[in-house]
Amino acid sequence: MRKKIVAGNWKMNKTLSEANTLLAEIDSYVKTNDPKCEVVVGIPYLYLANAKEKYENLNIYAEDVSEHQSGAYTGEISAEMLKSVHVDGAIIGHSERRQYHKETDEQIGAKVKIALENGLTPIFCNGELLEERKSGKHFEVVKKQTEVALFQLSPEEIKKVVIAYEPVWAIGTGETATPEQAQEIHAYIRSLIAEKYGKEIADEISILYGGSVKPANAKEIFSKPDVDGGLIGGASLNIKDFGALIQTY
Ligand code: G3P
Repeated sequence: MRKKIVAGNWKMNKTLSEANTLLAEIDSYVKTNDPKCEVVVGIPYLYLANAKEKYENLNIYAEDVSEHQSGAYTGEISAEMLKSVHVDGAIIGHSERRQYHKETDEQIGAKVKIALENGLTPIFCNGELLEERKSGKHFEVVKKQTEVALFQLSPEEIKKVVIAYEPVWAIGTGETATPEQAQEIHAYIRSLIAEKYGKEIADEISILYGGSVKPANAKEIFSKPDVDGGLIGGASLNIKDFGALIQTY
């Protein structure tokens, strides 16, 4: 049975004291409620080491990772560094990295590969722009993103990847994909994996939905057969909403 995951992505939010407060609330919530899903918290680099030191049982992820092993890459953080502070995984290829930092599918594939080589679980993000959806190109866009970034991986490697489909037009907009839209493209992504790696592996890969997920819409989206949870932005920034999303399972 593939994992159900509710993952938070704090993006560039929370001061040190705000981060400490929310991490303590999430840790307490998980310990008290014993969730049926896996809880993941993606937080800024600055807070990772202390978070893992204080909450070793929480799944703490970075929000990106360098594709380089080490060296003259000012400002970047390597997978080896993340592993050295016991970080569990990394969100990779988020649309905001693709948009603001011009990350390519090839570069994102290299990030996924080096994350796996250093024992980090990648949450690989894909998803189309509004104009691509409106012109009916969303399947071909997601196909290219997925094939270029992931199909370099061995069967053993792909099994460790979590995929997050995030239609860019739904991120931070309040305009969520309908459960039917989410199911349609999640099933398509799963079919691409099955064609390359076989149905058995494809059926074990968790595919999360991201894009304006809130407690009011999560149950219907998460109930779809090929939706295995969510990658949550705004609603992961407070324990009331994040807890309600965890409770969806
Ligand atoms: O990575 C999750 C994020 O892109 C979704 O953001 O605020 O629409 O839940 P939000």
